[in-house]
Amino acid sequence: LWTPANIVEDAIEKVRAQVGEQKVLLGLSGGVDSSVVAALLHKAIGAQLTCVFVDNGLLRKNEGDQVMDMFAKNMGVKVIRADAEDAFLNKLAGEADPEKKRKIIGNMFIDIFDQEATKLKDVNFLAQGTIYPDVIESAASKTGKAHVIKSHHNVGGLPDDMAMDLVEPLRELFKDEVRRIGLELGLPYDMVYRHPFPGPGLGVRILGEVKREYADILREADAIFLEELHRADWYHKTSQAFAVFLPVKSVGVVGDARRYEYVIALRAVETIDFMTARWAHLPYELLETVSNRIINEIKQVSRVAYDVSSKPPATIEWE
Ligand code: XMP
Repeated sequence: LWTPANIVEDAIEKVRAQVGEQKVLLGLSGGVDSSVVAALLHKAIGAQLTCVFVDNGLLRKNEGDQVMDMFAKNMGVKVIRADAEDAFLNKLAGEADPEKKRKIIGNMFIDIFDQEATKLKDVNFLAQGTIYPDVIESAASKTGKAHVIKSHHNVGGLPDDMAMDLVEPLRELFKDEVRRIGLELGLPYDMVYRHPFPGPGLGVRILGEVKREYADILREADAIFLEELHRADWYHKTSQAFAVFLPVKSVGVVGDARRYEYVIALRAVETIDFMTARWAHLPYELLETVSNRIINEIKQVSRVAYDVSSKPPATIEWE
């Protein structure tokens, strides 16, 4: 019988049988899949699990602290936080090409993860949040964005000399099943039903070269947009919603003074499969509130635009 409780029980037994008394390492991204694996493995094998969370400086506002609070503080999961903001930003300096940025971020992620992993002794297993659609996707295609996504997110590119066996307890499950299991394991609803966030994070939402200043501005704008979406009860009516930083300046006025500041674009879409998407028809009042708040609260922003492009031909992300 398929109930979340049965699936959890079954998965726990299988993991215990697979790893015995040995140690397991998990790359925790804060996304739904790796979070559910963390909660599941913690329940199954407790202190035999160590998670590595790479803070690449391209996370949303407070995201790193939230991940640490939920897993390390509240649940007592062993989580190593690798503060790698400087390392990522240094490597990204001067690079404006979207695919090159993705490669840099993906490779850095693997390097940092690897560094943390080699500090740990006697780890025999690597856990991954691979879900059934990932299995199909990587079988179907070995090229393009999708593959980059999985190799980055699921840390598929670890060096051979680490020689670890894989633990993939979600391999046979669809996203919705993973979410229900997450709830069963006690993860909060808002975490389990949050929008997807790309592996390269804000790196592909800052157009062109990534700079700390831009990331800081974008984090604030994005947080305002998400806060207002939640407040207006629109967050769960959209499939993905976020702010994008445009490194161009536009003129505005405040009182008597002229401002010449950056532009923020808002993107919100409705989609089932993320292959096609319609721009979300958000209420004008909501857009007005968000725009006013962003321009009033962030002095480096003078203008807000709403993206009314559908996919195709536009992609969901701007890069
Ligand atoms: P696009 O922009 O291709 O996005 O319409 C479709 C979905 O994929 C996500 N996306 C990514 N996820 N690494 C990821 O992990 C990436 O490089 C990447 N690029 C796009 C995007 O957020 C959307 O959900």
